[in-house]
Amino acid sequence: MILAIETSCDETAAAVIEGGRQIRSSIVASQIDLHAQYGGVFPEVAARAHIEVISAVVQQALDEAKLTLNDLDALCVTQGPGLVGSLLIGINYAKGLALATGLPLLGINHLEGHIYSLWVGTEAPIEFPIINLIVSGGHTELILMTGHGEYQHLGGTIDDAAGEAFDKVGRLLHLPYPGGPSIQKAAEGGDPTAYDFPRAMQGEGFDFSFSGLKTSVMRAVRPPHVGPRTAGHESLKEGDLREGLSIPDVAASFQAAVVAVLVQKTLQAAAAYGAKEIFISGGVSANRPLRETFAAQAPIPVRYPPLKLCTDNAAMIGAAGYYRFQAGQRDSLGLDVRPTWPVS
Ligand code: KG4
Ligand code: ZN
Repeated sequence: MILAIETSCDETAAAVIEGGRQIRSSIVASQIDLHAQYGGVFPEVAARAHIEVISAVVQQALDEAKLTLNDLDALCVTQGPGLVGSLLIGINYAKGLALATGLPLLGINHLEGHIYSLWVGTEAPIEFPIINLIVSGGHTELILMTGHGEYQHLGGTIDDAAGEAFDKVGRLLHLPYPGGPSIQKAAEGGDPTAYDFPRAMQGEGFDFSFSGLKTSVMRAVRPPHVGPRTAGHESLKEGDLREGLSIPDVAASFQAAVVAVLVQKTLQAAAAYGAKEIFISGGVSANRPLRETFAAQAPIPVRYPPLKLCTDNAAMIGAAGYYRFQAGQRDSLGLDVRPTWPVS
């Protein structure tokens, strides 16, 4: 019975996981409304908001699981990657609990957590090797998984994460934050072939790049010759839009460009490493056209976490922690944050 805590970004989350796969409780306090006014996560604001709610969130996780600290076997906490200030709140809280209870403490990689969001809540047998595509606001990673805790990092974004591109383009189009769901919705009536946006690095290895795409969208939506601006000095913040611009067409074409690259590289990796399954996780895995394109093109099973586990949560940290606990991992109270920490 594991109590897990996740505070790497802008959700304060706690969960109780039994046997690695059963969710006894999963509480997520989102700060989305707090950050919407900035059009993105404001790190200092995020850290302060974690402090305010973490005790209540942990207590609620125990209450909903109908357990007390005495019923637990271990404490797991996200150690990184993530925002330093946010991670520190979760880690210090978990250390305090470990000190007070004597329970073993384990630091867990947030990306490994996303991978395990596919294990939790399911009894389905899962076959290795697995190709993992983790697509969120902070990450775009392709990871080969050959067993529990066995990873090879195949590639990742060299600039913006896929979700970050959705958020930035959403802001350009004056759509509500976060951009991902807003763009998906706006794209519903649009023509995905209206604009020929670049599919960067398609067919070239397993790394991704989304910043050129974002710049192309900006050029397409801004009125021609706005002021004395030159390329590169244009602001990615909200600005005037071209007259008569079809937001649905831009949204659909942008989304199609992101989806095409994500699907192509994932399927190429799956073929190259003889994968038995494909796991897609992280906030962008909620994207409907992404799921439809995988369904149409993938020759092997493609799995997704349940929608409420696509975005950040602590259940996935507890699930990853379970396998680490079984493998004997125990961390000391000297556990420190790891703001950058690739899965390997
Ligand atoms: O995993 P997550 O909650 O947080 C991070 O660890 O970053 O992912 C949030 C990201 C945001 O960038 C959001 O715009 C994106 O996931 N997202 C989507 C959709 N739902 C959320 N992107 C595309 N389509 C969606 N339906
Ligand atoms: Zn995440």
